[in-house]
Amino acid sequence: MQVKRNVLLNPGPATTTDSVKLAQVVPDICPREKEFGDLMDYCATEITKFVGDPREYTTVMFGGSGTATVEAILSSVVPENGRILIIDNGAYGKRMCQITKIYKLDTVVFDSSSIEPIDLIALEDVIKGEKGLTHLAMIHHETTTGLLNDISAVGKLCSTYNISFIVDSMSGFAAIPVDMKAMHIDYLAASSNKNIQGMAGIGFAICNRIALLGTEAIPMRNLYLNLFAQHAYFEKTHQTRFTPPVQTFYALKQAIIETKEETIANRYARYTKSWETLLVGLEEMGLEYLIDKAYHSKIITSIIEPKNDKYNFEEMHDFFFEKGFTIYPGKVNNFDTFRISNIGQIDYTDIQNFLQVLKEYLRKIDHL
Ligand SMILES: Cc1ncc(COP(=O)(O)O)c(C=O)c1O
Repeated sequence: MQVKRNVLLNPGPATTTDSVKLAQVVPDICPREKEFGDLMDYCATEITKFVGDPREYTTVMFGGSGTATVEAILSSVVPENGRILIIDNGAYGKRMCQITKIYKLDTVVFDSSSIEPIDLIALEDVIKGEKGLTHLAMIHHETTTGLLNDISAVGKLCSTYNISFIVDSMSGFAAIPVDMKAMHIDYLAASSNKNIQGMAGIGFAICNRIALLGTEAIPMRNLYLNLFAQHAYFEKTHQTRFTPPVQTFYALKQAIIETKEETIANRYARYTKSWETLLVGLEEMGLEYLIDKAYHSKIITSIIEPKNDKYNFEEMHDFFFEKGFTIYPGKVNNFDTFRISNIGQIDYTDIQNFLQVLKEYLRKIDHL
């Protein structure tokens, strides 16, 4: 069976293989059966192996989107007398601040440019000046703009100042290499529907086992999202506490198998080739992008909208959509941009086809 192929240029859920889509068509099964527990165990272990040694790190999974996992980590690991510093350089850093505000966690916000690298000297000064910091949270790849944050450097600071390090790598994980131990990361958030190329519906928190065990005594701030409770129940029973998205797990297993076959390094090389193709095409058309190549994720590109009275994002979106491409609006307040992501089961030839359609659109509005 072949499923109609759409080229999704939004930053996930991404274009998937037919084998991942079809992996969801399985006999009905109760998720409390051992067979399903084994499937979840396989997914958790293999996800851990992408970023760390399963003897030292473990993956806690939740039915929910990526935000659920970020919320699970932030609400579960900061003790009552804890203090968290959040680096805010885009919409997803802001979302972390929103979460800690809702949970009334003692939070210090480090504002940083949404288009330039983090000033590590200024950050260290804040870390030194703010007393009692126990945690630091940041985004790996700010999907808002395509800015790649230097988590290695921040991890080093966390290690120096004995601060537990939390990273949201939603749109970095499974493409941009991460080594949790070398980068001093205790908690890493990711989800099933971005670079891992599975279906939406499962969030993972990959945790340093020792750090996670240390959260057992923290009073639960919620029921569903508590990290330690979810971990402890799964360790004991090989089941999740609440109903998991059953079929999504079958798709995730297939997506993991395909990621291992391709390897993360080759996947990132494929994404990089698509991104390079995109930049060459944009430059040919005289279009500019927001983030400098030197600190670009190579995963999503914020393109400055053409200055033309006839330009209209919605119309451009519909023009593309009719031809099987999904493009994405911008998300940065001060800049008029639209975004093109090159993740998922697509390659540079899809980007060449996208560029052809972009040319057609720009000619239609008399911009070329
Ligand atoms: C860096 C980052 N964090 C969090 C999220 C939120 O994920 P979700 O929309 O699955 O809740 C996203 C989504 O794009 C993201 O890119």
